[in-house]
Amino acid sequence: MPLTDAEKHSLIEMASAARVHAYAPYSNYAVGAALRTKSGKIYTGVNIENAAYPTGICAERVAAFKAVSEGEHEFEIIAVVTDNGGSPCGSCRQVLAEFGLDTLVLIANGNGKLIKSMTVGELLPEAFQPHHVGVKK
Ligand code: THU
Repeated sequence: MPLTDAEKHSLIEMASAARVHAYAPYSNYAVGAALRTKSGKIYTGVNIENAAYPTGICAERVAAFKAVSEGEHEFEIIAVVTDNGGSPCGSCRQVLAEFGLDTLVLIANGNGKLIKSMTVGELLPEAFQPHHVGVKK
């Protein structure tokens, strides 16, 4: 069943609330994410930076890895909140694509305003997928 606008907004609010815990002392660009799986569970994530810069990780991947680490492989929707409505980076798109090209991505700004909504498949056309390496999902 498609999510209602109220459910979408509550996911954006969860991403905004999580964003407070972003650890971004280097970029000062805080990102919050809230991912809902098809089973209805919600996992939040924030970006976590590191003095060794490339070691940091984005909010979307933290949320995705939390979900997968608890056995959740089917994603339904993810809300991403930044100050200015930034969209998921290429690495996050690839990770999200692994768990469903139909996952809806809500991009919101620091006021919780929905800026854009699209699927992972739209964000990452011609995605490299499990079947390319012989894995059926
Ligand atoms: N960042 C995310 O958390 N998600 C994205 O999709 C884009 C970028 C983070 C990484 C880094 O901590 C900061 O935002 C600036 O690039």
